Amino acid sequence: MLDSLATDPTPSLISPDMLPYQSRTTGPLKLGVLASGNGSNFEIMIEAIASGQLHAQVQVVIYNNPGAKVAARAERWGVPAILLNHREYDRREYLDAAIVEVLQRYEVEWVVMAGWMRIVTPVLLDAFENRAINIHPSLLPSFPGVRAIEQALAAGVKITGCTVHLVVPEVDAGPILMQAAVPVMPDDTPESLHARVQVMEHRILPRAIALAASRTSS
Ligand code: GRF
Repeated sequence: MLDSLATDPTPSLISPDMLPYQSRTTGPLKLGVLASGNGSNFEIMIEAIASGQLHAQVQVVIYNNPGAKVAARAERWGVPAILLNHREYDRREYLDAAIVEVLQRYEVEWVVMAGWMRIVTPVLLDAFENRAINIHPSLLPSFPGVRAIEQALAAGVKITGCTVHLVVPEVDAGPILMQAAVPVMPDDTPESLHARVQVMEHRILPRAIALAASRTSS
């Protein structure tokens, strides 16, 4: 077993309710993505849509850090990208109100927080009740909050992973939609472990979006 773990770069276990990949809703899901940085999870959603695996369209990407790579990725795919810099808002609620305004203007039905490094408030969650999804790089409820990868390494766990869940006001605490497990290797650094966790994030995120939408639409 250990040998196979050592040779397979992405050994994994995904939670069993992952099977639906294609949403059962009629029209494409209208997604709005919130992202703070790199945007690889955004791009994986776009690729799943482009290849016909996820029946959805990304209406808009909102990002909060000027120069975030996700903006360039959005531009490449022709997706509108709107900068809402949190530094320009005195309160979280004011930022969230601006986010809601953009999401509604772009007729978004579901919000996907894909590397959104801001705490959200009821202003956003009330507008998208049970329609906001987050991806987190640990097996929740272990290691919520920031630096989840570093937390896992510091705790010495042998298995960590990623979780897609519905968003509730408590940070990283909503109902779990899907998880994938990733072993921690003895020589892992935060970077190497995060890279393997991200491979699994990219596998489960499109499936979890379809799963969440199919549960509320059937
Ligand atoms: C992911 O690891 C996600 O779980 C965490 O932030 C990271 C975002 O990665 N919340 P990317 O920007 O999608 O590449």
